[in-house]
Order: sequence, then C-alpha cells, then structure tokens
Amino acid sequence: MSYDKFGLVNTSDMFANAIARHYAIPAFNFYNMETLNAIIGAARDMRSPVILAVSESAMRYIGDDMLMGMIAGLRLSGDLPVALHLDHGASYDACAHAIQLGFSSVMIDGSKLPFDENAQLAKSVVELAHSHNVTVEAELGTLAGIEDENTFGESSCYTNPADVIRFVDATGIDSLAIAIGTSHGAYKRKSDAEELRFDILDDIAKRLPDFPLVLHGASSIPARLVAQINEFGGEMGGARGIDAAQLRRATEMNVCKINVDSDSRLAFTAAVRKSLVENPKNFNPREYLGAAIKSVYDNCVDEICNIMGSDNKI
Ligand code: G3H
Ligand code: 13P
Ligand code: ZN
Repeated sequence: MSYDKFGLVNTSDMFANAIARHYAIPAFNFYNMETLNAIIGAARDMRSPVILAVSESAMRYIGDDMLMGMIAGLRLSGDLPVALHLDHGASYDACAHAIQLGFSSVMIDGSKLPFDENAQLAKSVVELAHSHNVTVEAELGTLAGIEDENTFGESSCYTNPADVIRFVDATGIDSLAIAIGTSHGAYKRKSDAEELRFDILDDIAKRLPDFPLVLHGASSIPARLVAQINEFGGEMGGARGIDAAQLRRATEMNVCKINVDSDSRLAFTAAVRKSLVENPKNFNPREYLGAAIKSVYDNCVDEICNIMGSDNKI
C-alpha cells in the first residue's frame, strides 16, 4: 500500500527545511483516537509539519486495520505535511510490515547491536524502504532506560562521533538518532544541573554537515503536569525531563526531529485524574477523555511553539 493514498509524505523535505531554518519536526507518539486528534489538531492549528510516531507495542494495542483506518480518517490532502513513522522498529520484518501497511518513514533500532550488525541491518531496511520511497532512521549509541539509576553516568553509552560518517555511508540512512544524554520515560535527570552533551553533538554535526539528527527521549516533563498528577492522587515525585532551552539549542545544530511521548502521556493522565476527582459523579468517558484531548493538544501546541520552533513553517 503506498502512503500517497493516505496523503502522507516521507521525511525528506521536512528535514531539509528544518535544517535550513533551524527548527525541529515534532515526532509525537500516539496510541488512540484521542492522542491522534490532539496531535493533528495542534499541528494543523500551528501550521507545523508533524511526524506521527507509532511504536510496535502501540500498533499491537490499536490493531493494524484500526490504525490505518484512523490515518485514512484524517483525510489528509497535502496541505499539512504529515509522516507516519514506525518508532523503534526492532527488526527488518517489523519495518517491512509497516511499509506494506502504508507508513512513510521507519526507524530500524539496532542500537544495542555491535556496529557492523547494526549497520548491516539498517542497510537491508534502507534497500527495501527506498524502493518504496520510504525514509529510514537508525540509531548509533544507546539511550539510558527508564529504570536506569545513572542516566547521565557510566551506563549511558553516548554516540561516538568517530563512528558516524562510516555508519551513514555504510547504510544509506536518511536520519541518525544519537545518544547525547537524553533517555526515555519521565525520570531523566536527578538535578537541573545535568546537561546534554553538546560537545558530542557539535562534533557529530561538524562531521555530518546538513545531515538530519534525531533526539529520542526528549520529553521535557512539564512540572505543572507532574504537579497536577500528584495533586489528584498520582505519585510521580522526582519526575524530571530535558530542559526546554537545551532542546532549542540542539535544534540550532542539525537536530531536526525531536521525539516526545512521555509529555503527552503526562498531559493525558493529568487531565483524566483532575476530571475524575473534580466530577466524582461522572461516569461518561467522553467527559474525561475530552479533557485529555484538550490537555494533550495544549501541550503539543506549547512544544511546537516553544521547543520545536516548527510553528508557521508550512
Ligand atoms: O520510545 C519509546 C516510546 O515512548 C514508545 O513506548 O513502546 O510503550 O509505546 P511504547
Ligand atoms: P520520551 O519518553 O522522552 O517522551 O521519549 C519518546 C521517544 O523517544 C519515542 O521514540
Ligand atoms: Zn525513542
């Protein structure tokens, strides 16, 4: 199935424009009608290109037919640049399946493999994807995980700048995800003093001028959302994200895709908790899910304008 049919685009033009004008395309993860509508609504209203990211587990949760039905239901007509992207594809088969469904972009995540195996896997996905005009992201270096106690410490394996040219040349990928101190989940930093490794980013950007770089694990974990969750019965003390000013600085340096999932999860959860506590007699899900859509929308608008800088770029 060609993605043209859904009015989707691949990431080539998006990234070229973003690098030239120093902003980032938001890659927002979605997993239901509510998050999808919130993200698309924010992108449309802010006139921002957007990447709709779907993980393999989100695909299993939604189901392929429902997923592609929702994408068809957006009735994209080319006025809004939207890419449908497989996030953290774990295998060649997962990428092939997404391409066959109509995805316009895939990530093959071989970041935990030795260099040569990672490169070989990425190259094989590129060969298939490019024959369908689908763009490919791969990753070098590994991000620290949610449970990791030592996100910015020994256990985090930063991308080695000395490897990047060889990897890009060997694979033919369209964008490269790098590890410079971000991590997935809501507990990224122990203190505000911890900074991203701009020295590594600078080195990589110099070796790969104008090549699209990607930051995963880049949620900023807005304090007001964490506070709202805690106020209405949640327990998320100590949650802390990546500083928004540091993310903006990264967009000046060839980072042209910033991945955000946890912030939308927080926005959703904060709104549902508040609505249920404030309306104890309500048992109509459309009330609290409606609040969740608005909360995710508001957060996406805020991040498009104040972190990505992708507003009014269509
Ligand atoms: O980077 C990972 C994303 O946050 C997706 O997470 O597999 O729980 O959907 P998930
Ligand atoms: P966060 O957990 O920081 O939102 O990261 C999302 C991500 O990298 C999706 O691929
Ligand atoms: Zn990720």
